[in-house]
Amino acid sequence: MDKPRLNRLMTSEEIASIVEKLADQISRDYTGKELVLVCILKGAFMFLSDLIRRLRIPVKVDFVRLASYGAGMKSSGLVEITKDIETPVEGKDVLIVEDIVDSGRTLQFLKERLALSNPHSIKICALLDKKARREVEIEADYLGKEIEDVFIVGYGIDFNEGYRHLPEIYYVTPDAQ
Ligand code: IMP
Ligand code: MG
Repeated sequence: MDKPRLNRLMTSEEIASIVEKLADQISRDYTGKELVLVCILKGAFMFLSDLIRRLRIPVKVDFVRLASYGAGMKSSGLVEITKDIETPVEGKDVLIVEDIVDSGRTLQFLKERLALSNPHSIKICALLDKKARREVEIEADYLGKEIEDVFIVGYGIDFNEGYRHLPEIYYVTPDAQ
């Protein structure tokens, strides 16, 4: 895929309305709780930054960097942690913020790892979900939108580290030439 073609999947308006809906649900469910958002770098950084500005409750934010994809479009199936959170989460309510659930292996790994720190609860908020590609049993507690099995870029999400800056979401197809 030397010259990929970008096809728009979601506009800024659609993304904004999904983010607002999720922020409403989270604000309601976590009122009076000690919420720590754990954002998975790099793909979820833009989603997180929009989401936190819509929340009406105090939160703490931390970041984890997990690598499951090598360069390209196929997951290796192996997840490794390259940057850990620094916030103590024992007894806290943790909400993982992720861009896309695909095989589910990244979230399964992170959930199990965070559980070792004995938080009060661990839930998942994902912008997009490719349910058809799931390999392990994991579901987002807060989900923006289910999508088809297509490769996505934009709004923080990359293809070989490119396209993260795009404000809208596109699916990639090979250029017909
Ligand atoms: P999983 O572990 O297979 O669920 O993979 C999830 C991770 O793969 C996400 O955090 C993304 O970084 C990446 N990913 C999955 N689908 C796409 C895509 O369509 N475009 C870019 N990255 C993706
Ligand atoms: Mg990611």
